[in-house]
Amino acid sequence: MRKNYIALAALLAALAVACGKKAEKVLETGNAAAGDKGYTYAVTVEKMQFHWRLDGGLLRVKLKAPVQGWLAAGFDPERGMLGSNMMVGYLEGGRAVVTDQHGTDPKLHRKDIDLGGTDDLRETWGRQDAAGTEIGFTLPLETGDKLDKPLRPEAVVLMLAYGTTNEMAKQHVFWGKARLNLRTGAYETTMIRREE
Ligand code: HEM
Repeated sequence: MRKNYIALAALLAALAVACGKKAEKVLETGNAAAGDKGYTYAVTVEKMQFHWRLDGGLLRVKLKAPVQGWLAAGFDPERGMLGSNMMVGYLEGGRAVVTDQHGTDPKLHRKDIDLGGTDDLRETWGRQDAAGTEIGFTLPLETGDKLDKPLRPEAVVLMLAYGTTNEMAKQHVFWGKARLNLRTGAYETTMIRREE
């Protein structure tokens, strides 16, 4: 009897470990298309586009979505938004406000500079017209900020999200996740949620 209990406990422990490590299901596998001028590649997840170019130790990014609202990308979350390195941008009075943020909880994020970290985004810009919004920034692969894990270009987990207002107080109406090789453009989308 005691042996049975031990065997059952071992089985449950093994299952818990297996479940905790379960890889997210792959929705779509693909190869990135050519990016817009100035960017090597572009991946489209639903209506949102992520264009990028690797320049030595720098990653140049342009986000694009047919919405009048905030756009964001993030890398390498641990659970939900927790632990991710996020870049969030919106237009305010025609001016782009793009900030470096950090996932502080599966459901929360804050600016790096409010967490004792540094804003490592360079060359930030944005544009909004009737067709939608574009946000651009350049990010070092290794920022040196203790809040940011160094990006491994061969294997990043990319998060994309947008809202339909320029206020960050409003949660995303769309988010998506993909495993992505920034060098080759090979990607796998794993999770998508849309509430529009
Ligand atoms: C505007 C403030 C934001 C709020 C209040 C917010 C809130 C939340 C909440 C409550 C969830 C869990 C429920 C759900 O799945 O929808 C979530 C998940 C998520 N958020 Fe946010 N979020 C915000 C901004 C962002 C930003 C800037 C990104 C950057 C890309 C982002 C990416 C994601 C992703 C990818 C998930 C799903 C993660 C997973 O379950 O694996 N969010 N967010």
